[in-house]
Parts: sequence; structure tokens; C-alpha cells
Amino acid sequence: MSLSLAEMAEAVLRTGDGRAKAALSLDYAARWAEARAAGTPPEIGSATPPDRPARPARPELRDPRDVPRRRPGSPQGRIAILHAVAHIELNAVDLHWDIVARFAGTPMPLGFHDDWVKAAAEESRHFNLVCDVLEAHGSHYGALPAHAGMWRAAEDTADDLMGRLAVVPMVLEARGLDVTPDMIALFEKAGDAGAVAALRTIYAEEVGHVAYGSKWFHFLCGRHELDPKDTFHALVRRYFHGPLKPPFNEEKRAEAGLPPDFYWPLSETTPR
Ligand SMILES: [Fe+2]
Ligand SMILES: [Fe+2]
Repeated sequence: MSLSLAEMAEAVLRTGDGRAKAALSLDYAARWAEARAAGTPPEIGSATPPDRPARPARPELRDPRDVPRRRPGSPQGRIAILHAVAHIELNAVDLHWDIVARFAGTPMPLGFHDDWVKAAAEESRHFNLVCDVLEAHGSHYGALPAHAGMWRAAEDTADDLMGRLAVVPMVLEARGLDVTPDMIALFEKAGDAGAVAALRTIYAEEVGHVAYGSKWFHFLCGRHELDPKDTFHALVRRYFHGPLKPPFNEEKRAEAGLPPDFYWPLSETTPR
């Protein structure tokens, strides 16, 4: 119990097996929440997180162009989608703990750590949920190749907390809000109740992660007396490669504290 929060984060990042990573993440998140409730949070401390988190031997990681595409309407296509979601969720577990470990030296209110630890716990449950659905279909995480390069955003922003918040929760996780409703509809059409339930949980909780990003991004803009919108545009242009893709889920983005003038100017088209 004497581990600092940063050391707990590093231990999750250094755990390779997916289910073991998720279990350790949930255990540490519960410890943090209990200690916070008791008014005795562990110290934040410091850590030396790995440049890239440990991952299981499988799935094989390939360049996105070399990951075979399957028809989304077919059963194999739906398995491939779920496999890709599991891969994203496992990456998200690492991304949230990496914010805690890598930026432990930046003084932040305890609420910052509460938010990312809670988000990491939710990602761990998302990973487990999607793995359960894959296994119910006779597949498993690791059965198919997965995208390499998902850690790129973390590497690019390893020294820039505001850049990290702009690109990871406020661009990448916000993109999840845009695409998840169509995915839910696809599994509804296929009558896959297990997948629909998992995706609905993910969709509901991801709004919170985008909101944490926006909250702490605005906090840091306030600390440094920066204009949030201009700073967001500059950081996304620096660290994110390519334009943002509409259609945007304006309703959920608004709920998460992302106004249209943040993302529309970064897209290749103008609002309809
Ligand atoms: Fe998630
Ligand atoms: Fe998330």
C-alpha cells in the first residue's frame, strides 16, 4: 500500500497481458478511490514510465494499411470490429495511466488524478466487456492482427501535457463519440445484444473522458493565461497528423465541453 500513485501507474504500463493489465488497473483505481474517500490519498510521487507500454505477444501489430478489411455486415466483419475496439480500449487503459505517470511532476489538483484514475478503471472494464463478447463468439483478443501506431499520439506529446489533453481525450476520444452510434446500430441490426450492451456502456462513459480532457485543458489555459480555442488549434495542428473528420457528434461533444468552434476549423470542410 506504500506505492505512490505514479508507481502504480507505471506498474500498469509495465504489465503486458491484457486481462492482467486491466485487473491491476482496477485494483489500483479501487485503492486510490478508497484512500481518497478516507482522506488519506497516496502521494503522487514520481515514476519512469516506459516509452511504450508493455503489451501481450498477440495481437500481432501491423501498419493500418496491412490490417485486412472485412465486410462490416458479415459475422467475421463484426468480430473484426469488436477486436479493433478491444485494442482501442487496452490502449486507452495505458493512455490514462500514462498521463498520471508521465506528468506526475506537474503540480495539479487531486481532482485531476481522480479523473484519470476513474477513466483508466472504466477503460479496463471496457476492455474486459469487449473481450467477454469476443470470447462468447468463440474468438478472443489477440486472434486477429491489430493496428500498430496507436501509441504515436502519446509519444508525440510525451513532454507536453496540454498537447496530450488536446490530442488524446479532446480529439481521439471525441472521435469515438462520433463513430460509436453507427457501430451500435450495426450490432443492433445483427441482433447481437451482448455487443450492443458493451458498446452502450462504452459510449455513455467516454463522454466523461472527453469532458475530463476539456476540463483540465481549460484549467491549464487559465493557469498560463492562454486563450483556450487558439491554443487548442495550435496544439492539434502541431501534434495531430491530418484534418478532423466530420460528421461530428455535436450533441455529445457539447455535453463533454467541446464547442463547435474548437473542432470545425480543424476539419477539411465547413459546417453545413
Ligand atoms: Fe473506453
Ligand atoms: Fe476513454
